Amino acid sequence: MFRDDLLRDKVIAITGGGTGLGRSMAERFAALGARLVLASRRREVLERAAGEIRQRSGAEVLVHPLDVRDPQAVEAMVHSACERFGRLDGLVNNAAGNFLARTESLSANAFDAVVRTVLHGSFYASTAFARHVIARGGGGVILNILTTYAWTGSAFVVPSACAKAGVLAMTRSLAVEWARHGIRVNAIAPGPFPTEGAWQRLMPPGFAEQALRRIPAGRFGRPEELAELACFLLADGAAYITGECVTIDGGRWLMAGEFNALIGMDPASADALFAMLRAGPRS
Ligand code: HXC
Ligand code: NAP
Repeated sequence: MFRDDLLRDKVIAITGGGTGLGRSMAERFAALGARLVLASRRREVLERAAGEIRQRSGAEVLVHPLDVRDPQAVEAMVHSACERFGRLDGLVNNAAGNFLARTESLSANAFDAVVRTVLHGSFYASTAFARHVIARGGGGVILNILTTYAWTGSAFVVPSACAKAGVLAMTRSLAVEWARHGIRVNAIAPGPFPTEGAWQRLMPPGFAEQALRRIPAGRFGRPEELAELACFLLADGAAYITGECVTIDGGRWLMAGEFNALIGMDPASADALFAMLRAGPRS
C-alpha cells in the first residue's frame, strides 16, 4: 500500500509490541524503514519478536521490558530510546489488559489492574514522550489503540470500556493542547481481530461464530490491515490529521442501526416484504 521508505529513520516506540496487533504494527513499521522500541513486561517475548523483525527487515530494534503502570519505568524507556537512537518520533499506546467478568463481582484491584494499564499507562507514556519532543523540537506522533466500545460501552468489560473511553478523551484533548508543539495525537478503534491475547480472554468456545454473524463484512479483521492504517496515521503525509479516531471493524459497531438485521434476508424475501408494506395497511 505504501512506498518502501514511508517511515525511513523514524524512531517509534510500541507498548505491547511483542505480541498480537502490536507485533504486526512493529513488523510493518520496520519493513517501511522505522527503527523500533518494543516495550512490555515479558523480556523473552520482546526479544523473540525483536530477533525475528531484525532478521526479516534488518531494522534496528531496542527491547525495553517495563510495566506501563510504573511512570518511572516509562520515563526510562524514553531515555533509553534517546540514548540509543538520539530521538523518539512516534509512540503507539497499544499495551492493554482485559477480561470478561460480571462487574459486581470485580475487586477494586481487578478494576485498577486494567484501568492503570490502559488509561494511566497511556498517560504516563504520552507525557514522557511529549516532554522529550517539546524539549527537542521538531514534533512527533502519538497513536492510541482503542476499541469501538470506547463510545458504545460494553457489558462484562467495564474496566476496559472506562479506560478506553478515557484514552479517547485524552486523544482529543492532547491533540489540541500539543498541536503547538507539532505533536499529533490520533487513535484507531479496532473491532474484533483474532489475536491470542484477545481470543483466549474474550472469546469463549462458540462465541466467535456468533460474533462473525454480527460483522457486515462477514469476517474478522486481519492484523496486517490494522498495521497499514497505523502506518498511514504515523506518516508525515498525515500531518494535518490530529484528534481523530479511525474505526477499523468491517462495519461492526454500526449494526445498532434499526433495520440492519434485515441484511440477513435474501433479496427476493426482502423485496416481497417491502412490497407487502408498500401495498398499504393490512386489515
Ligand atoms: C476477574 C480478575 C481476572 C478475571 C485477574 N483478575 N483476572 N478478576 N476476572 N479474569 C483480578 C485478580 O484477581 C486481581 O485482583 C487483579 O485482577 C489483578 O490480577 P493480577 O493477575 O495480579 O494482574 P496483573 O498481573 O496485573 O495482570 C493484568 C491482567 C491480565 C489484566 C489481569 O489479564 C493481563 O496481564 N492481561 C494482558 C493482556 C491482555 O489482557 N490482552 C487482551 C487485550 S484484548 P485481586 O483483588 O484478586 O488482587 C482487548 C480487546 C478489546 O483489549 C476489544 C475486543 C473486541
Ligand atoms: P495482546 O497480544 O494481549 O496485547 C497486549 C499487549 O500488552 C501484550 O503484548 C502485553 O505484553 C502488553 N501489556 C499488557 N499489560 C502490560 C503492562 N502492564 N505493561 C506493559 N505491557 C503490557 O492483545 P491484542 O489483541 O494484540 O491487543 C492489542 C491492543 O489492541 C490492545 O490495546 C487492545 O485493547 C486492542 N484491541 C484489540 C482487539 C482485538 O480484537 N484483538 C480489539 C480491539 C482493541 P506483556 O504481557 O509482555 O506485558
